[in-house]
Amino acid sequence: GSRHLYLHQHFWCPSTHFQGVINFQNHFLAKDSDVIVASFPKSGTTWLKALTFSILNRQRFSSSHNHPLLTSNPHELVPFLDFIFHGDNIHDKLSHLSNMTEPRVFGTHLPFPSLPKSIKESSCKIVYICRNPFDTFVSLWIFANKINPHSMHELTIEEALEKSCKGIVGFGPTWEHMLGYWRESIANPNKVLFLKYEELKEDANFHVKRVAEFLDCPFTKEEESNGVIENIIKLCSFQKMKNLDVNKSGTVGRNLEKKYLFRKGEIGDWVNYFSPAMIEKLSKTMEEKLSGSGLSFKTCS
Ligand code: A3P
Repeated sequence: GSRHLYLHQHFWCPSTHFQGVINFQNHFLAKDSDVIVASFPKSGTTWLKALTFSILNRQRFSSSHNHPLLTSNPHELVPFLDFIFHGDNIHDKLSHLSNMTEPRVFGTHLPFPSLPKSIKESSCKIVYICRNPFDTFVSLWIFANKINPHSMHELTIEEALEKSCKGIVGFGPTWEHMLGYWRESIANPNKVLFLKYEELKEDANFHVKRVAEFLDCPFTKEEESNGVIENIIKLCSFQKMKNLDVNKSGTVGRNLEKKYLFRKGEIGDWVNYFSPAMIEKLSKTMEEKLSGSGLSFKTCS
Protein backbone atom coordinates (compact mmCIF):
# COMPACT_ATOMS: atom_id res chain seq x y z
CA GLY A 1 0.00 0.00 0.00
CA SER A 2 0.97 3.65 -0.19
CA ARG A 3 0.70 4.08 3.57
CA HIS A 4 3.78 3.40 5.65
CA LEU A 5 4.54 3.75 9.32
CA TYR A 6 7.33 5.87 10.77
CA LEU A 7 8.58 5.28 14.28
CA HIS A 8 8.31 8.77 15.73
CA GLN A 9 8.80 9.49 19.45
CA HIS A 10 8.02 5.90 20.43
CA PHE A 11 4.85 5.56 18.37
CA TRP A 12 4.12 4.41 14.82
CA CYS A 13 2.98 7.41 12.83
CA PRO A 14 1.24 6.76 9.47
CA SER A 15 3.18 8.43 6.67
CA THR A 16 -0.06 10.12 5.59
CA HIS A 17 -0.21 11.92 8.95
CA PHE A 18 3.47 12.64 9.51
CA GLN A 19 3.67 16.24 8.34
CA GLY A 20 0.38 17.14 10.06
CA VAL A 21 1.52 15.56 13.31
CA ILE A 22 4.85 17.41 13.35
CA ASN A 23 3.13 20.73 12.63
CA PHE A 24 0.50 20.06 15.29
CA GLN A 25 3.22 19.30 17.83
CA ASN A 26 5.20 22.40 16.92
CA HIS A 27 2.53 25.02 16.33
CA PHE A 28 -0.76 24.28 18.07
CA LEU A 29 -1.60 26.61 20.95
CA ALA A 30 -4.20 25.24 23.34
CA LYS A 31 -6.66 27.48 25.11
CA ASP A 32 -7.76 26.73 28.66
CA SER A 33 -11.31 26.22 27.43
CA ASP A 34 -10.35 23.62 24.77
CA VAL A 35 -11.63 20.08 24.93
CA ILE A 36 -9.62 17.29 23.33
CA VAL A 37 -11.21 13.98 22.34
CA ALA A 38 -8.35 11.48 22.33
CA SER A 39 -8.40 7.86 21.23
CA PHE A 40 -6.62 4.99 19.59
CA PRO A 41 -8.14 4.52 16.08
CA LYS A 42 -11.39 2.52 15.91
CA SER A 43 -12.13 2.81 19.62
CA GLY A 44 -15.28 4.95 19.26
CA THR A 45 -13.78 8.30 18.33
CA THR A 46 -16.66 9.33 16.07
CA TRP A 47 -19.18 8.53 18.79
CA LEU A 48 -17.32 10.39 21.54
CA LYS A 49 -16.81 13.39 19.26
CA ALA A 50 -20.57 13.55 18.65
CA LEU A 51 -21.40 13.17 22.36
CA THR A 52 -18.83 15.72 23.52
CA PHE A 53 -19.91 18.26 20.91
CA SER A 54 -23.58 17.80 21.86
CA ILE A 55 -22.93 18.03 25.59
CA LEU A 56 -20.93 21.24 25.25
CA ASN A 57 -23.30 22.91 22.77
CA ARG A 58 -26.63 21.80 24.20
CA GLN A 59 -27.75 25.33 24.97
CA ARG A 60 -26.81 26.72 21.55
CA PHE A 61 -28.72 23.98 19.74
CA SER A 62 -31.51 23.17 22.12
CA SER A 63 -34.06 22.51 19.39
CA SER A 64 -33.10 19.23 17.76
CA HIS A 65 -34.28 20.29 14.28
CA ASN A 66 -31.33 22.51 13.59
CA HIS A 67 -28.69 20.44 15.34
CA PRO A 68 -25.40 20.52 13.40
CA LEU A 69 -24.97 16.76 13.84
CA LEU A 70 -27.96 16.24 11.54
CA THR A 71 -26.15 17.90 8.68
CA SER A 72 -22.46 17.47 9.49
CA ASN A 73 -20.31 14.47 10.25
CA PRO A 74 -18.77 14.51 13.77
CA HIS A 75 -15.30 14.74 12.20
CA GLU A 76 -16.29 17.98 10.49
CA LEU A 77 -17.54 19.50 13.74
CA VAL A 78 -14.62 18.16 15.76
CA PRO A 79 -11.56 18.17 13.50
CA PHE A 80 -8.46 16.04 14.08
CA LEU A 81 -5.50 18.13 15.21
CA ASP A 82 -3.36 15.38 13.64
CA PHE A 83 -4.24 16.63 10.17
CA ILE A 84 -5.55 20.15 10.50
CA PHE A 85 -1.96 21.24 9.91
CA HIS A 86 -1.32 19.02 6.91
CA GLY A 87 0.06 21.02 3.99
CA ASP A 88 1.09 24.66 3.85
CA ASN A 89 -0.38 27.91 5.16
CA ILE A 90 0.16 27.09 8.80
CA HIS A 91 -0.23 30.76 9.61
CA ASP A 92 -3.73 30.92 8.04
CA LYS A 93 -4.73 27.77 9.84
CA LEU A 94 -3.54 29.12 13.17
CA SER A 95 -5.48 32.34 12.77
CA HIS A 96 -8.60 30.39 11.74
CA LEU A 97 -8.21 28.23 14.84
CA SER A 98 -7.77 31.17 17.15
CA ASN A 99 -11.08 32.60 15.86
CA MET A 100 -13.14 29.46 16.40
CA THR A 101 -16.13 29.61 18.75
CA GLU A 102 -15.22 28.53 22.25
CA PRO A 103 -15.14 25.98 23.66
CA ARG A 104 -13.19 24.54 20.74
CA VAL A 105 -13.36 20.75 20.48
CA PHE A 106 -10.67 18.75 18.68
CA GLY A 107 -9.74 15.14 18.14
CA THR A 108 -6.36 13.46 18.27
CA HIS A 109 -4.89 9.97 17.99
CA LEU A 110 -1.51 11.01 19.42
CA PRO A 111 -0.33 9.16 22.51
CA PHE A 112 -0.32 11.27 25.68
CA PRO A 113 3.46 11.80 25.92
CA SER A 114 3.52 13.17 22.35
CA LEU A 115 0.87 15.83 22.89
CA PRO A 116 2.24 19.36 22.55
CA LYS A 117 3.29 21.12 25.72
CA SER A 118 0.52 23.68 25.44
CA ILE A 119 -2.11 20.94 25.78
CA LYS A 120 -0.37 19.45 28.80
CA GLU A 121 0.36 22.76 30.47
CA SER A 122 -2.87 24.66 29.84
CA SER A 123 -5.98 23.71 31.77
CA CYS A 124 -7.73 22.30 28.70
CA LYS A 125 -9.41 18.93 29.27
CA ILE A 126 -8.97 15.58 27.60
CA VAL A 127 -11.64 12.89 27.24
CA TYR A 128 -10.16 9.56 26.18
CA ILE A 129 -12.09 6.59 24.84
CA CYS A 130 -10.69 3.09 25.03
CA ARG A 131 -12.19 -0.08 23.57
CA ASN A 132 -11.39 -3.72 24.21
CA PRO A 133 -8.46 -4.65 21.96
CA PHE A 134 -10.28 -7.61 20.37
CA ASP A 135 -13.06 -5.48 18.89
CA THR A 136 -10.69 -2.60 18.15
CA PHE A 137 -8.46 -4.93 16.13
CA VAL A 138 -11.37 -6.35 14.10
CA SER A 139 -12.82 -2.90 13.50
CA LEU A 140 -9.45 -1.67 12.25
CA TRP A 141 -8.83 -4.76 10.12
CA ILE A 142 -12.13 -4.35 8.30
CA PHE A 143 -11.76 -0.57 8.01
CA ALA A 144 -8.22 -0.82 6.64
CA ASN A 145 -9.33 -3.29 3.99
CA LYS A 146 -12.18 -1.03 2.95
CA ILE A 147 -10.06 2.07 2.58
CA ASN A 148 -7.27 0.13 0.88
CA PRO A 149 -8.57 -3.02 -0.84
CA HIS A 150 -5.01 -4.05 -1.68
CA SER A 151 -4.04 -4.42 1.97
CA MET A 152 -6.09 -7.63 2.30
CA HIS A 153 -3.76 -9.25 -0.21
CA GLU A 154 -0.65 -8.00 1.55
CA LEU A 155 -1.37 -9.38 4.99
CA THR A 156 -3.59 -12.14 6.39
CA ILE A 157 -5.63 -11.36 9.49
CA GLU A 158 -3.27 -13.58 11.52
CA GLU A 159 -0.24 -11.64 10.27
CA ALA A 160 -1.96 -8.33 10.99
CA LEU A 161 -2.59 -9.46 14.57
CA GLU A 162 1.05 -10.55 14.98
CA LYS A 163 2.18 -7.13 13.84
CA SER A 164 -0.33 -5.36 16.03
CA CYS A 165 0.78 -7.39 19.07
CA LYS A 166 4.34 -6.30 18.35
CA GLY A 167 3.04 -2.76 18.51
CA ILE A 168 3.45 -2.06 14.80
CA VAL A 169 0.14 -0.39 13.97
CA GLY A 170 -0.82 3.24 13.31
CA PHE A 171 -0.47 5.25 16.57
CA GLY A 172 0.54 2.04 18.35
CA PRO A 173 1.69 0.28 20.36
CA THR A 174 -1.96 0.05 21.43
CA TRP A 175 -0.97 -0.75 25.04
CA GLU A 176 1.32 2.24 25.35
CA HIS A 177 -1.47 4.39 23.95
CA MET A 178 -4.10 3.29 26.46
CA LEU A 179 -1.70 3.12 29.38
CA GLY A 180 -0.40 6.63 28.76
CA TYR A 181 -3.87 8.12 29.11
CA TRP A 182 -4.86 5.63 31.82
CA ARG A 183 -1.94 6.64 34.05
CA GLU A 184 -2.56 10.32 33.43
CA SER A 185 -6.25 9.95 34.29
CA ILE A 186 -5.22 8.48 37.65
CA ALA A 187 -2.46 10.99 38.35
CA ASN A 188 -4.48 13.94 37.13
CA PRO A 189 -8.21 13.18 37.18
CA ASN A 190 -9.17 16.78 36.42
CA LYS A 191 -7.12 16.68 33.23
CA VAL A 192 -7.98 13.32 31.67
CA LEU A 193 -11.28 11.43 31.81
CA PHE A 194 -10.83 7.79 30.79
CA LEU A 195 -13.90 6.18 29.21
CA LYS A 196 -14.48 2.68 27.89
CA TYR A 197 -16.58 2.01 24.78
CA GLU A 198 -18.25 -0.98 26.45
CA GLU A 199 -19.23 0.99 29.55
CA LEU A 200 -20.56 3.85 27.45
CA LYS A 201 -22.74 1.37 25.57
CA GLU A 202 -23.95 -0.31 28.75
CA ASP A 203 -24.89 2.86 30.61
CA ALA A 204 -24.72 5.88 28.34
CA ASN A 205 -26.77 8.02 30.71
CA PHE A 206 -24.31 7.59 33.58
CA HIS A 207 -21.25 8.28 31.44
CA VAL A 208 -22.72 11.24 29.58
CA LYS A 209 -23.36 12.82 32.99
CA ARG A 210 -19.77 12.01 33.98
CA VAL A 211 -18.45 13.73 30.86
CA ALA A 212 -20.58 16.82 31.50
CA GLU A 213 -19.39 17.05 35.11
CA PHE A 214 -15.78 16.56 34.05
CA LEU A 215 -16.15 19.37 31.50
CA ASP A 216 -17.56 21.67 34.21
CA CYS A 217 -21.01 21.83 32.61
CA PRO A 218 -23.08 19.36 34.68
CA PHE A 219 -26.71 18.82 33.71
CA THR A 220 -29.18 20.71 35.86
CA LYS A 221 -32.08 18.92 37.54
CA GLU A 222 -34.34 20.67 35.06
CA GLU A 223 -32.36 19.42 32.07
CA GLU A 224 -32.44 15.91 33.49
CA SER A 225 -36.19 15.94 33.90
CA ASN A 226 -36.67 17.48 30.45
CA GLY A 227 -34.94 14.52 28.84
CA VAL A 228 -31.92 16.51 27.61
CA ILE A 229 -29.53 13.62 28.36
CA GLU A 230 -31.70 11.05 26.57
CA ASN A 231 -32.00 13.33 23.55
CA ILE A 232 -28.22 13.66 23.30
CA ILE A 233 -27.79 9.89 23.58
CA LYS A 234 -30.43 9.29 20.88
CA LEU A 235 -28.96 11.87 18.52
CA CYS A 236 -25.51 10.28 18.85
CA SER A 237 -26.64 6.66 18.73
CA PHE A 238 -25.15 4.31 16.16
CA GLN A 239 -28.47 3.74 14.34
CA LYS A 240 -29.31 7.41 14.20
CA MET A 241 -25.89 8.50 12.96
CA LYS A 242 -25.49 5.67 10.46
CA ASN A 243 -28.85 6.48 8.87
CA LEU A 244 -28.36 10.20 8.46
CA ASP A 245 -27.96 11.19 4.82
CA VAL A 246 -24.91 13.24 5.71
CA ASN A 247 -23.12 10.09 6.91
CA LYS A 248 -24.19 7.78 4.08
CA SER A 249 -22.08 9.19 1.30
CA GLY A 250 -19.26 11.60 0.62
CA THR A 251 -15.93 11.96 2.32
CA VAL A 252 -14.49 13.71 5.31
CA GLY A 253 -10.97 14.80 6.23
CA ARG A 254 -8.44 13.46 3.82
CA ASN A 255 -10.74 11.55 1.50
CA LEU A 256 -12.20 9.17 4.02
CA GLU A 257 -15.55 7.65 2.96
CA LYS A 258 -17.98 8.62 5.71
CA LYS A 259 -19.99 5.41 5.37
CA TYR A 260 -16.95 3.37 6.52
CA LEU A 261 -17.08 5.07 9.91
CA PHE A 262 -20.30 3.26 10.83
CA ARG A 263 -20.13 -0.52 10.58
CA LYS A 264 -21.80 -2.57 13.37
CA GLY A 265 -21.21 -0.61 16.54
CA GLU A 266 -21.43 -3.73 18.70
CA ILE A 267 -19.54 -5.36 21.53
CA GLY A 268 -18.04 -8.79 20.86
CA ASP A 269 -18.12 -8.98 17.05
CA TRP A 270 -14.51 -10.18 17.29
CA VAL A 271 -15.71 -13.77 17.91
CA ASN A 272 -16.60 -13.93 14.22
CA TYR A 273 -13.00 -13.25 13.18
CA PHE A 274 -10.66 -14.72 15.80
CA SER A 275 -9.29 -18.26 15.54
CA PRO A 276 -8.33 -20.01 18.81
CA ALA A 277 -4.66 -19.27 18.06
CA MET A 278 -5.44 -15.57 17.58
CA ILE A 279 -7.40 -15.48 20.85
CA GLU A 280 -4.42 -16.99 22.64
CA LYS A 281 -1.99 -14.57 21.02
CA LEU A 282 -3.92 -11.42 21.92
CA SER A 283 -4.88 -12.63 25.39
CA LYS A 284 -1.24 -13.39 26.21
CA THR A 285 -0.04 -10.08 24.84
CA MET A 286 -2.63 -8.17 26.85
CA GLU A 287 -1.72 -10.04 30.01
CA GLU A 288 1.92 -9.23 29.44
CA LYS A 289 1.36 -5.55 28.63
CA LEU A 290 -1.50 -4.62 30.93
CA SER A 291 -1.01 -6.74 34.06
CA GLY A 292 -0.48 -4.68 37.16
CA SER A 293 -1.78 -1.52 35.50
CA GLY A 294 -5.31 -1.81 36.86
CA LEU A 295 -6.65 -1.51 33.31
CA SER A 296 -8.73 -4.47 32.17
CA PHE A 297 -11.59 -5.35 29.83
CA LYS A 298 -14.70 -7.32 30.64
CA THR A 299 -15.59 -8.69 27.26
CA CYS A 300 -12.37 -10.44 26.29
CA SER A 301 -12.32 -14.23 25.83
P1 A3P B 1 -17.22 -1.44 14.43
O1 A3P B 1 -16.26 -1.52 13.30
O2 A3P B 1 -16.97 -2.51 15.45
O3 A3P B 1 -18.64 -1.38 14.01
P2 A3P B 1 -13.80 5.23 15.37
O4 A3P B 1 -14.93 6.19 15.42
O5 A3P B 1 -12.79 5.43 16.46
O6 A3P B 1 -13.21 5.12 14.02
O7 A3P B 1 -14.42 3.80 15.75
C1 A3P B 1 -15.22 3.12 14.82
C2 A3P B 1 -16.07 2.09 15.54
O8 A3P B 1 -17.10 2.78 16.29
C3 A3P B 1 -16.79 1.21 14.56
O9 A3P B 1 -16.94 -0.06 15.21
C4 A3P B 1 -18.12 1.94 14.38
O10 A3P B 1 -19.15 1.16 13.85
C5 A3P B 1 -18.38 2.38 15.81
N1 A3P B 1 -19.30 3.53 15.92
C6 A3P B 1 -19.41 4.59 15.10
N2 A3P B 1 -20.36 5.43 15.52
C7 A3P B 1 -20.88 4.89 16.64
C8 A3P B 1 -21.92 5.28 17.54
N3 A3P B 1 -22.62 6.41 17.34
N4 A3P B 1 -22.19 4.48 18.59
C9 A3P B 1 -21.49 3.34 18.79
N5 A3P B 1 -20.51 2.91 17.98
C10 A3P B 1 -20.20 3.66 16.91
